[in-house]
Amino acid sequence: MADGAMTRADETARAEAARAKAYATPLAAFQVHDIEHFTSDTLWPWFERLRAEDPVHYTADSEYGPYWSLTRYEDIVQAESDNHRLSSSSVYGGITLFLPPEDAPPEAFSEERTSFISMDAPRHDDQRRAVSPLFSTSALAELEPLIRSRAAAILDELPIGETFDFVDKVAIELTSQMLATLFDFPFEQRRLLPRFSDMLLSGPPDTAEELAARQAEMYATLGQFVPLWNDRSGNQTGRDLISLLANNPATNGDNDPQRYFNNIILLIVAGSDTTRHSITGGLLALNQHPAEYEKLRGNHALLESAVPEFVRWQSPVAYMRRTALEDVEISGKTIKKGDKLAMWYVSGNRDDSVIDRAGEFIIDRARPRHHAAFGFGIHRCLGQRLAEMQLRVVWEEMLARFPMIEVVGEPVRLNSNFVKGYTALPVRIPS
Ligand code: HEM
Repeated sequence: MADGAMTRADETARAEAARAKAYATPLAAFQVHDIEHFTSDTLWPWFERLRAEDPVHYTADSEYGPYWSLTRYEDIVQAESDNHRLSSSSVYGGITLFLPPEDAPPEAFSEERTSFISMDAPRHDDQRRAVSPLFSTSALAELEPLIRSRAAAILDELPIGETFDFVDKVAIELTSQMLATLFDFPFEQRRLLPRFSDMLLSGPPDTAEELAARQAEMYATLGQFVPLWNDRSGNQTGRDLISLLANNPATNGDNDPQRYFNNIILLIVAGSDTTRHSITGGLLALNQHPAEYEKLRGNHALLESAVPEFVRWQSPVAYMRRTALEDVEISGKTIKKGDKLAMWYVSGNRDDSVIDRAGEFIIDRARPRHHAAFGFGIHRCLGQRLAEMQLRVVWEEMLARFPMIEVVGEPVRLNSNFVKGYTALPVRIPS
């Protein structure tokens, strides 16, 4: 990395300090979800210690209440496969550790009011099936040329020899265009989509006025979907996500907007943040590992294995939560009925016992898809192949134009322990 960025020595000092702290802290006092670990990229030694000493770990007290952490790959696979006993349903708290607002009415937890990621079978399966056609091999092959031409247009506009924010100019722009394409949403309004996702995932605002303003803006964006939905309702031939949702009895919510918005929200958020942070994370990792960047520059075909490595290394979804519907034993510990647990993909992806040299960034791994970042089981990421295709296409187009995109300053990391990503990354394309 170039001037302005943290030096290697600074990074090493920060990592060593975090390691010393993690190894000096009693396990019972561990708060692995601490957002500061995520914003300073110092989460690794905490998880390393848990994987070695207490892989199924109980946090007795936290801002989210008590919860379990699964930190090893195999335990995550086991939990994800046990979807009848370990629930994703909003009825029991859904997929994040956050506590609901105390004044939330009981109907706020109903599966009627949520999206299929926060449902259990069979309702989940019916709704997932409704949108699956857009993620089929043939649908993705049809989308690829459009995604490529849009990526090319973005890259051709980038300034040369000047510092700019890669997150804003490339990562967000590319994913906005992809989402606008998937929803067949008005192209000129595409930036509303990632903005919506950012507002939804950002922490609580400081004032009631800010909250009201944010809610008004989010409602206004969702409102844009109403005429699109009405227009496409009844058109059985439309292949975009709105047409698929509007014309399937499992997802059209009897045309009650409150009910169908939830799957739209899921698809905006799932499609916007994850791919965005994997594009940025890949560039950052290549800059931090110049020999790997050199390898890729010398052989663009390595993208086949580099893309899944970018995703593993970034792990943009840090965890998913489940709730035990009965007592469940995992690696000798009993998760009691009613307990909640976090499956930390970010840790499973660094588990040396299943991934060879898991702590190293290696773009030509023999089994690059052997990672946990997309989850497993019935909720396994529906957009995996789309995300990988988009990452491959954008990297093919970037490598064809620019042998080097240089990171010239510190990344600004997202203030979240659920989505692991970036809000800014200063870069420069050498002239
Ligand atoms: C690198 C990019 C991505 C990563 C790492 C990622 C990761 C994940 C993870 C971890 C889950 C939960 C899996 C589980 O609970 O087992 C998930 C679910 C999901 N993802 Fe992705 N995702 C990515 C991109 C996308 C894209 C581009 C889309 C679509 C536009 C998408 C749509 C979904 C949907 C709809 C679900 C819910 C699936 C279900 O509940 O059945 N994802 N994703």
